[in-house]
Amino acid sequence: MTPPSAAQLRRLIYISSATHDFGQADLDQILARSRTNNTARGLTGMLLFHDSCFFQVLEGEAASVERTFATISRDTRHGGVILLESKSVAERGFPQWSMGYVGAHALHPAQRQWLVDLSARVCSDNPKPLSEVAGINVHVEAFLSSFREFA
Ligand SMILES: Cc1cc2nc3c(=O)[nH]c(=O)nc-3n(C[C@H](O)[C@H](O)[C@H](O)COP(=O)(O)O)c2cc1C
Repeated sequence: MTPPSAAQLRRLIYISSATHDFGQADLDQILARSRTNNTARGLTGMLLFHDSCFFQVLEGEAASVERTFATISRDTRHGGVILLESKSVAERGFPQWSMGYVGAHALHPAQRQWLVDLSARVCSDNPKPLSEVAGINVHVEAFLSSFREFA
């Protein structure tokens, strides 16, 4: 597959809540399907799951990212999908990962705290509108950079 030119490269990030108790087997099923599909579609990214809350980064050609996100959004295994970001980027942050998964146990305390804070604000029964979550884009950027060591 021809890699998309930088101008077409899109990074989309969302957060959502699991609709039932998620075990490792449920996660493995999602990851296996994601890796097969994403490899075929030239998509890369990462998935975090902590305390019933998903955080996912999808990167690739804009139309593929949007189509896959539309499918993911309809998946009844999660709900309350909140788009944190969808923008053009110059390069991929996770070029080696068809869908990387970093378990909560592997997160540094600061990364886990960031996720816990974000979940409490936007991934809860009473999510605050994103406009009220100050500086979220800046924080997302710093959070993603902290994953370079894993990728
Ligand atoms: C939290 C979450 C993340 C997912 N991430 C992806 C993904 O990155 N790529 C993907 O193809 N499907 C992903 N899925 C699964 C899709 O919702 C859908 O079940 C799947 O794409 C259907 O694939 P199929 O048409 O090959 O059966 C995800 C589902 C959930 C709940």
